[in-house]
Amino acid sequence: MSSRITLSVLKADVGGFVGHGSVHPDMLEKARQTLKQEGKDTLIDFFVTNVGDDINLVLTHREGINSEKIHSLAWKTFLNCTEEAKRLKMYGAGQDLLSDAFSGNIKGMGPGLAEMEFTERTSEPVIVFMADKTEPGAWNLPLYKIFADPFNTIGLVIDPKMHDGFIFEVMDLIEDKLITFSCPRELYDLLVFLGASNRFVVKSIYTNSGEIAAASSTQKLNRMAGRYVGKDDPVLIVRCQNGLPAVGEVLEPFAHPHLVAGWMRGSHYGPIVPVSQKDAVPTRFDGPPRVIAMGFQLADGKLIGPQDLFADVAFDRARQTALKIADYMRGMGPFEPHRLPLDEMEYTTMPQVMGKLKERFK
Ligand code: 13P
Ligand code: 13P
Ligand code: MG
Ligand code: MG
Repeated sequence: MSSRITLSVLKADVGGFVGHGSVHPDMLEKARQTLKQEGKDTLIDFFVTNVGDDINLVLTHREGINSEKIHSLAWKTFLNCTEEAKRLKMYGAGQDLLSDAFSGNIKGMGPGLAEMEFTERTSEPVIVFMADKTEPGAWNLPLYKIFADPFNTIGLVIDPKMHDGFIFEVMDLIEDKLITFSCPRELYDLLVFLGASNRFVVKSIYTNSGEIAAASSTQKLNRMAGRYVGKDDPVLIVRCQNGLPAVGEVLEPFAHPHLVAGWMRGSHYGPIVPVSQKDAVPTRFDGPPRVIAMGFQLADGKLIGPQDLFADVAFDRARQTALKIADYMRGMGPFEPHRLPLDEMEYTTMPQVMGKLKERFK
């Protein structure tokens, strides 16, 4: 057991209410009860919320990352929520639990996972981002802006503690390999990869002295299961202030909604809309994709908060812009680039239609 704090965020879609729009309150209550009872010896604190149809568990403890105890607790929690979902006949009950038996580590079993371990600073502000109807690559552009773009983050220029830049750890989801880039020196190399956000995703970011600054969930769920099981609806943890980007610098990229893959049937590009938790109910064309930002101050591992950071009226214009982009994109219906390219769609009838018509291709 470590004196350091571990912050683990685990998420799963184990049933939607209604369709893929939200999570039934009884399921969230079940998650809280389970964590309270079963986690009383291991957890320092926990917070449960949802974004769209995804349940998010924010856990603090001293077991380190990849802890079997913590992962099995989360697994049990999602199982209990699934039981509740089945009782209520929620849509896609158990969707993200890919196995019947827990094998020691939740990685590769369906739920999304972002974790980091650190020594809590005198003041430890953290933001947990949670998104629905999109994929882990959705964090690439904002993470680049937060940790490498001086037009977003003035601290890179004027804060002596940030002036050396940050180290990006990037994962190739296809080859399952990791590479690190030291920025600003290797910024242009980094961008070659981050721009291809369906394949290369930021896994974590460190300061030059090796302190963890950000960690994302990088599971590519559809590929893991070898069949469609839902877009991976990612989470991201970012530590803030005092040598790390300020809270406002971390939120700033979301003032300019970017296009992400996901939305209806996990097969469309659309804008990611920053919303308060109560507005995280994607219904229009099962979207558009949503992101919420829960801010906490840690106090000896206690989660003081959350502050619902995108509730700020200063994000109203971003929301309006995103909705305009949504109208525009929807106008293209089944055509690319609203619809994803063939190899990225999570639903397709192409093989059947092609099979049926192949004799007619001359
Ligand atoms: P720090 O207190 O983390 O240096 O942040 C300064 C600031 O002014 C943020 O906007
Ligand atoms: P989820 O990945 O959020 O379950 O959404 C799936 C879907 O098909 C939405 O149209
Ligand atoms: Mg769903
Ligand atoms: Mg979802």
